[in-house]
Amino acid sequence: MDIFNQESNLVITCNKRLAPYLEAEVIKLGITPSSVFQTGVVVKANGLTSIALNLKLRCASQILYSLAKAKVQNPQQLYDFVYSYPWEKLIDIDNYLSVTCNVNTPSINNTMFLNVKVKDAIVDKLRKVMGRRPDSGPLLTGVVVHVYWKDDEAELFIDTSGETLAKHGYRKIPGKAPMLEALAAATIYASAWDGEKPFVNPMCGSGTLAIEAALMATNRYPGLFRKHYAFSQVKGFDPAYYQQALEEIKNLVIDRNKRSIIATDISKDAIHVVKSNAEVAGVSHLLHIEKCDFADTPVPTDSGFVFINPEYGERLGELKELEETYARIGHFLKQKCAGYQAFIFTGNLELAKKIGLKASRRIEFFNAKIDCRLLTYELYAGTKRKFE
Ligand SMILES: C[S@@+](CC[C@H](N)C(=O)[O-])C[C@H]1O[C@@H](n2cnc3c(N)ncnc32)[C@H](O)[C@@H]1O
Repeated sequence: MDIFNQESNLVITCNKRLAPYLEAEVIKLGITPSSVFQTGVVVKANGLTSIALNLKLRCASQILYSLAKAKVQNPQQLYDFVYSYPWEKLIDIDNYLSVTCNVNTPSINNTMFLNVKVKDAIVDKLRKVMGRRPDSGPLLTGVVVHVYWKDDEAELFIDTSGETLAKHGYRKIPGKAPMLEALAAATIYASAWDGEKPFVNPMCGSGTLAIEAALMATNRYPGLFRKHYAFSQVKGFDPAYYQQALEEIKNLVIDRNKRSIIATDISKDAIHVVKSNAEVAGVSHLLHIEKCDFADTPVPTDSGFVFINPEYGERLGELKELEETYARIGHFLKQKCAGYQAFIFTGNLELAKKIGLKASRRIEFFNAKIDCRLLTYELYAGTKRKFE
C-alpha cells in the first residue's frame, strides 16, 4: 500500500457553512469534487495530490485519505475491522501513533473509549506482525489515523494533515476574539473581492481579514507558514514530494508594492498584534496599519471593499454601548464609503439593524458555534446624498 501513488477518496473537511467556498477552491486548483457535503468535499486523488491540497487550501480543516470501509454494529466489530487492516504497510514501528474518531451512531456516546479501542486494534496488530508496538498518545505529531463511524458503517482514514489546516500558521499572538483564518478567507471569497480594489478593514483586531486579503492578493498559500503535516509520517513518504510542493507555492507568489489594504483598530494592543502577525505572514509591506477610531479610517479612491467585524457583545451594558457603535458604523459607511461595497460580519442581527442600511445579501456563517451573517451593503455613490 503506497498512499502517495495510489488513488482513493480524499475527504476534505471544513467547518460548517464553509463547504461552498472550499468546493470553489478545489475546483480552482483543477480538481472536480465527486461530492460535496455539509462539512466538506470528496475528491478522487492520490496522496501526492493531498500534499498539494494541504499546502494550498485556505478553507479546509483536514484532508483524510480513505483506506477502507466496513459494516460494523458494535465496538468489537470495529476492533476486528481495524485489526484486519495491514497497518505495518503505513506505520513505522518507531513512529508515534494517534487516533481521532468522529462517531455518529446511537450506541456510542464516548469517543475517548472508541479512540482507545481503535488504537488497541492497531497496536495489537503491529505487535503481532512486527513484534513491537509504536508509542501512542494524543499529540498529532506522528501518524494520525482517523475513524468515521456513522450508523452501521465505519471508514478508516489516514489523516494527512494532523493539526487543523483552518489555522494558517502566521498568527503567533491571537488577539481578542479573532476570526478563524479559514472563516476569514471564506468571507473574503464570499465577497468576490478581486484582489485589486482597496480593501479597508476598520476594527481589524488581530488583522485576520486584512492579512488573509493580502495573502490572497499575492497568491501566498498557507503552506508557506507551516512546517509539519501528518502525511510526512506515513510510510512511503519521500521528502522530495513535499519539497516540490513547497517550491511550487513559493514560485506562485506574485508580489506587489501597493499598500491598498488598510487595517485600523482603536486598541494599541491590537495594532501591535496585527503588525506582528503581518510580519510573520510576510505581508506587512502590503498593509497600511493605523491606530484610530474606525470612523477615522482612511478610505481611498471612490470604490473598494470595506470589511468590518465589530464585537457583538453578550452583556446588557455592552449591548447598549454596541447599539451606538453599530449606528456609528452606519454613519461611517454612508458618509465615508460611498461607491464601496461594505461587508459586516456579525453574530447579532438586532445590533445590525442599528446600521440603518438595507443589506443586499445576508450570507450565513458560523463563528465557532455562533450563528453569524456576512451582511452586504451596496453603498452607491448616491447613498450619501439620499441619506442626508
Ligand atoms: C471582534 S474584534 C475583531 C476581530 C478580528 N476580526 C480578528 O480576526 O482579530 C473587534 C475589534 O474592534 C475594535 N474596536 C472596538 N471599538 C472600536 C472603535 N470605536 N474603533 C476602532 N476599533 C474598535 C476592538 O479593539 C477589537 O479589536
